[in-house]
Amino acid sequence: MTRPASAKVIGTGMYVPERVMTNQDFARIVETSDAWIRQRTGMKERRLAEHDQSTGDLAFEACRRAMADAGVGPEEIDLLVCATITADNTLPATACWLQDRLGCTGAGAFDLTAACSGYIYGLAQARGAILAGQARTVLVTSAETLSKITDYADRSTCVLFGDGAGASVVQASDEPDTGILYTTLYADGAGGAMMILPGGGSRRPTSRETVEGRLHYMHIRGREVFKFAVLKMQELIEECMTACRLTVDQVRMVVPHQVNTRIIDAATSRMGFPPEKVFLNIGKYGNTGGASVAMAHHEAIAQGRIRPGDVAFLVAFGGGLTWAGAALRH
Ligand code: ACO
Repeated sequence: MTRPASAKVIGTGMYVPERVMTNQDFARIVETSDAWIRQRTGMKERRLAEHDQSTGDLAFEACRRAMADAGVGPEEIDLLVCATITADNTLPATACWLQDRLGCTGAGAFDLTAACSGYIYGLAQARGAILAGQARTVLVTSAETLSKITDYADRSTCVLFGDGAGASVVQASDEPDTGILYTTLYADGAGGAMMILPGGGSRRPTSRETVEGRLHYMHIRGREVFKFAVLKMQELIEECMTACRLTVDQVRMVVPHQVNTRIIDAATSRMGFPPEKVFLNIGKYGNTGGASVAMAHHEAIAQGRIRPGDVAFLVAFGGGLTWAGAALRH
C-alpha cells in the first residue's frame, strides 16, 4: 500500500433516540428548575435511549448514515473504531458487534475509552492508520447511552446528560494539505477521580455494596471540571492555530464538546472567536459524552455551517482526564 498525502473525512452521520427529556421533566423528579438548567448549562432538552436500546444500536444507525453520506460500502472499511464509555458489554467490544452487523467483513475493530474526547481520539487513530498505509478507509463512531450510568436522584449531574451517536468515514486522499491536518491528544490520570464510575470494574467488581452505594453511576466534581475545561479548551484552540499557522479569520468554525455554554463561551471568546464561529447544539441534546463532538461535527456540515474547503477545529475534554484537538480542512 502506498502512503497517501492525507486522510479526509468524506462522510458523516448521526442518530439520536426519539424519547425527549426536557428541563421541565427534570423539575418533576429532582429539586431543580428550567431557569437554573438553562442559565447554568445552556441545555433545554436531551434524548434518552429506551431501556432495550444499547449504545451499539445508536452507533449502528449513525454508521449506516455516515457510510451512505460517504458513498462507501461496508466491504470497503478496513478499520472500525468505536469510542464509548457505555459499551454494550465489557466483552466483546461494541466495535466488533458493529463490524458484524454492518457487514464490514474486511475490517479490524476495537473500542476506545477516552470519554468525551473519544471522537477526536478516534479521528487521530484513523489518520495515523491511513498515513502509515495500514488502512485506506476507516469508520470512526462515538456513541453513548449516558442515561444508563446517570443517577437520576442526583440533581447536580442528572440534568447534564443525554444519549446519541455520531460517525465519520475517513479515507486516504492524494490531495495534500486537506482532510485531518493536525491532531493532538493529552491525558492526566492524576485527575481521574474528578469524573469516575467507581463500581463494576476489576477494582470494585459488582456486588450488593456497589449497587447499594450507587457506585455504578458517574460521580462528577462539576466545579473542578469547569475550571479545567475552560483552560484546556483554550489551550487546544491555541495549539491548533499555532501548529497549522492559522488565524481566527482563516478558521470557519470551532466545534467544541457540548458540555456547558458558559465553558464554551469563556474559552472561545478568550481565543478571539465570535459566537457565529462556534457551533452549538447543546440546547437540543445536552452532553452526550464522546458522541457530542461527532454529532456537532455532523450537524455543522449538514447545516452548511462548514462547507467544502473550510477549516474547522474540534476540541474536547473528558474523564481520564483526557483532552484532544483536531484541525480539519473539509
Ligand atoms: N438545579 C438547581 N440547583 C442545583 C442543581 C440543579 N440541577 N445542581 C446543583 N445545584 C445547586 C448546587 O447545590 C449549589 O447550591 P449551593 O450553592 O447551595 O451549594 C448551586 O446550585 C451552585 O452549584 P455549582 O456546582 O457551583 O454550580 P455551577 O455554576 O458550577 O454549575 C455545573 C454546575 C453545571 C455542573 C457546572 O459546574 C459544570 O458545567 N461543570 C462541568 C460540567 C461537567 O462536569 N460535565 C461533565 C463532564 S463529564 C463528561 O462530559 C462525560
